[in-house]
Amino acid sequence: MTTERHTILHISDIHATDGELLYGQVDGIGRLYRVAQYVAEAGLTPEAIVITGDLAQSGHGNAYPRLRNAFAEVSSLLGAPLFSTLGNHDEPAQARVLDGHAIQHYRVIELDRLRIVTLDTSTGSIPSDQLDWLRAVLAVPYGWGTVLAMHHAPVPSPLPALARRGLGNSAELAAAIKNSDVRLILAGHYHHTMSAEIAGIPVWVGPSLAYEQIMNAGPHEVAGQDSAMFSIIQLTETGFSAAPVSLLSSTPLFTIPIGQATVAGRLPSTH
Ligand SMILES: [Fe+2]
Repeated sequence: MTTERHTILHISDIHATDGELLYGQVDGIGRLYRVAQYVAEAGLTPEAIVITGDLAQSGHGNAYPRLRNAFAEVSSLLGAPLFSTLGNHDEPAQARVLDGHAIQHYRVIELDRLRIVTLDTSTGSIPSDQLDWLRAVLAVPYGWGTVLAMHHAPVPSPLPALARRGLGNSAELAAAIKNSDVRLILAGHYHHTMSAEIAGIPVWVGPSLAYEQIMNAGPHEVAGQDSAMFSIIQLTETGFSAAPVSLLSSTPLFTIPIGQATVAGRLPSTH
């Protein structure tokens, strides 16, 4: 069945751990379940769930079986297929237990109107054979176009400490996708939200579910603060939107029935 828009639930940088909390307080897999609950409560019905890498924290290879189970349950809860890519923290051999990762860590998925292509940048770059494969996939356009999902952003972060930590061969990727039907790139890695453009194609660097970069930590340090965020991506035939959402929330400042606000003739002053 076709719909007017496709919604993608975009999650990145879970940094799941095995047996201990990340930095003593972050439970990545627990947060994943909370995202599913949050999205369901929001009344959103995504067509797909895309997770762009750093699924597990480096050295926590035993987290992958737990991730596999969590991915299956979140997919079932939201009634949408889930696709994941690997990041630099991930361990490719142990990640093979994940659904869709048994043979290789990149693939193409055809939704109703959209094509999603997941890429493996666990080495920091896209290997040349994978770029060849990508060119072959993109040689045939699909529906409303293609969304690329990858861990490393193919654009530099404005933070000096992260500016050289993006995709190692972004120029090669740009050449491979230029004039193709790729219309959006979803990435993560930086742990700070950012939008950009490469080869005329928009890039959405989604926030992390585990922690957020402290942007004024200085040029020679990186520091993180507790934050759990994800993105809601919506695509129509000709456009898209990307909305970052915070999972951690304090007591609401106000709650007003939307009908009442409309009758009053205006929304609260914060809108
Ligand atoms: Fe990360």
